Amino acid sequence: CNDSFLLLKAAAMQRDPELVSMARVAIERAYAPYSQYRVGAALRCSDGTVSTGCNVENASYGLTMCAERNAIFAAVAAGHRDFVRIVVATERSPVPYPCGACLQVMSEWQHDLQISVVCPEKTREGTLSQFLPRRFVFKNGSHGADAHLDTEHPEGRETL
Ligand code: THU
Repeated sequence: CNDSFLLLKAAAMQRDPELVSMARVAIERAYAPYSQYRVGAALRCSDGTVSTGCNVENASYGLTMCAERNAIFAAVAAGHRDFVRIVVATERSPVPYPCGACLQVMSEWQHDLQISVVCPEKTREGTLSQFLPRRFVFKNGSHGADAHLDTEHPEGRETL
């Protein structure tokens, strides 16, 4: 796995500086007493609206919800399903990858969603299809690994 979508700090700031600062503000609302790992997310909808989220942990651990999914679910609950970019912000290095569960949730609507993960020193950027080349689908009563997100490896489509 190469890190071709690990870019320098300037990238996300240049593309949507407001979204980056909103994701960083959302960190302050994180509830992370167990991991001490605070995460903020800001999601830009196609009409310009921004939905933010933070991670919310729980004493039972497994009920913890990530910042990304909280931002996405809040946007959907507010009537949005057309997303342009998500910025995920952490306080610490190294810059992480969004977890697989959040990527799968993002993949429900747009495969060309732009993802920026920012920590103080670095930004990791790419499209959803780079972060998640395959996703689980459930359509017309069948299920499997849908390759339609993977624009770089179209031969994968034949495996369905
Ligand atoms: N976390 C997120 O909010 N987003 C991710 O993509 C990965 C992990 C949170 C969940 C938990 O509260 C903490 O980070 C440590 O796993």
